[in-house]
Amino acid sequence: MRARPTRKAHTPMTDAASPAPGNAVDVAVIGGGLIGLGIAWRCAQRGLAVTVFDPAPGSGASWTAAGMLAPVTELRYGEQSLFALNLLSAQRYPEFVEELQSAAGMDVGYRLTGSVVAAWDAADLASLRDLAVFAKSLGHPVEVLTGRELRRESPLLSPGLPGGIIAPDDHQVNNRKLHAALRAAFSAAGGRVVTERVTAVWSPRGRVAGVVLADGTVAPAGITVLAAGAWSRQVDGVPPELMPRVRPVKGQTLRLRLPSGEVLGRVVRGTVRGSPVYLVPREDGELVVGASSEETGFGLTPRAGAVYELLRDAQSLLPIVAEAHLEDVSTSLRPGSPDNAPMIGPSRIEGLVFATGHYRNGVLLTPVTADGVADLITNGTLPIELLPFRPDRFSTHPDTHRPAEVPA
Ligand code: GLY
Repeated sequence: MRARPTRKAHTPMTDAASPAPGNAVDVAVIGGGLIGLGIAWRCAQRGLAVTVFDPAPGSGASWTAAGMLAPVTELRYGEQSLFALNLLSAQRYPEFVEELQSAAGMDVGYRLTGSVVAAWDAADLASLRDLAVFAKSLGHPVEVLTGRELRRESPLLSPGLPGGIIAPDDHQVNNRKLHAALRAAFSAAGGRVVTERVTAVWSPRGRVAGVVLADGTVAPAGITVLAAGAWSRQVDGVPPELMPRVRPVKGQTLRLRLPSGEVLGRVVRGTVRGSPVYLVPREDGELVVGASSEETGFGLTPRAGAVYELLRDAQSLLPIVAEAHLEDVSTSLRPGSPDNAPMIGPSRIEGLVFATGHYRNGVLLTPVTADGVADLITNGTLPIELLPFRPDRFSTHPDTHRPAEVPA
């Protein structure tokens, strides 16, 4: 798979039965969240003509997320290859942010705060010790803290907590600012955002050659990237068994503001009576508290019980939360996948690339996904670090469709 700048090479495919297509671009991206815009920006930087299609860019998981860049504190047993990808993307963040901020002329709130995980009780502390051993076995530093050391790290924490761990390299970015910067940088690089809904991919001759909008308009493109997060299966034109295996996992976050003068220096996480909670302090005093995790379909209505549970658990770790102002309740859908890892790479239909299923790590994986998909589109090969995350890893049916990737 290889796209070259429109002026040189691309000729749109047309079909007598299709509506008259507009001008072709090299790349159409379905989805204007962090993943879609990151890919679009990287492709536009390489001289490709790129259009992003999204009725409300950045209003989904990119808006609701807390912006944790947390390979270590999100580490789960059995997810070592995802850990390696998360780590790589975290390592790319400083350069990515520097380049983006300069291209967009705005700050994205990247903060080197590190993260602490507070244990709720002795059993919880024992499992955090096990996690620390596991992280160290993968070559990553994690320090175990006593209760006193924990409070020295984060003096606002509740005095009764028995200890915890510190992951000094698990940082954060302001995801809402990151999205605004990606949109500005993409526009500055010549990209276009169309706020129309894509109903289907356009595949006039068994090859995806663009998108169909809600009003029936066809927008042709050399390569189409499906990056619509939890909504990625809600695009017609591809047989369901060839669509990415994403499902919606509802998450709710709260934005609080601590009383003036009260500062939480690090990201704080914990599992209070079995219920996970995190608190992410922004530079301007905002405190993001998250997140619920609910497998209840596509509904987006905030649930009162989730607000209650988050506030209850956040306050158990950080008593000052009771004095905070509640400024925002936000709900969206994580794109869950069967193995919690993303699906990035060629689909089984020529001309269609997937970049979805980032589940709990979309903000963190934006740089590595954007670079890798831009490489695939411009050079014809997926970088080695993304090979374990090819969408066809779940496939069990015979490959009757021509794969999108053609060796360069
Ligand atoms: N990565 C945090 C969350 O998904 O809630």
